[in-house]
Amino acid sequence: MPLTVAIDGPVGAGKSTISDQVARRLGILHLDTGAMYRAVGLYCIENNVDIQDADAVSALCTAQKAKVDVRYQDSAQRTLLNGRDVTPLIRSQEVGQAASAVSRYPLVRKMLVQRQQEMAQSQPMLLDGRDIGTVVLPHATVKIYLTASAEARARRRMLQLRDKGDQTPFEQVLEEVNARDWQDTHREADPLRQAEDAVLVDSSELSFEETVQAILSIVEAKQ
Ligand code: DC
Repeated sequence: MPLTVAIDGPVGAGKSTISDQVARRLGILHLDTGAMYRAVGLYCIENNVDIQDADAVSALCTAQKAKVDVRYQDSAQRTLLNGRDVTPLIRSQEVGQAASAVSRYPLVRKMLVQRQQEMAQSQPMLLDGRDIGTVVLPHATVKIYLTASAEARARRRMLQLRDKGDQTPFEQVLEEVNARDWQDTHREADPLRQAEDAVLVDSSELSFEETVQAILSIVEAKQ
């Protein structure tokens, strides 16, 4: 079994950037599984598929209309939708909301989880998402549950948005963080939860580097 590191946690906990750095320092690839759900969300937006219509979205999976894959370019993930590199198109709030909606449907999850498991079987990898330690890799070498208070996460999200010239007020960002938390933890299919054997890392009071170090120490201790 190659080394597998599972990092789960709520939106805005810094999973993607922290995971990227941890994987780099461990010399392994990082799979951001949220990007795959975002690609399905993007497909729905671009093709006018109603994200609230479970049958319509599930049919995309059975008919293989929204094929999602990942490749690596200089160790950086590129997310592909029907062979098209959609990496720059999936970071908006709109696509994030669509991803959260379509991730409720079991057929969407089945399609993406299968691909994630295949990838982690063939090489050492760090995967981040919502269900990695609980569903995708129940036997992962190391499981981390990375979280922070909703306020700390909303503050970070707001600063990221400011960098992009988006002036959304703090209260609205916090509301969106709370709404996403609710949706991710209350859905029926594989809701976000801490795996019993996952180590909790609360980054509310930690800097980026401190969080990376905390996770690296946990990985080292388990290896
Ligand atoms: O991490 P993110 O914001 O890019 O994820 C987008 C959405 O995808 C998130 O709201 C929930 C869903 N998701 C999921 O259900 N399971 C995963 N492993 C990763 C993401």
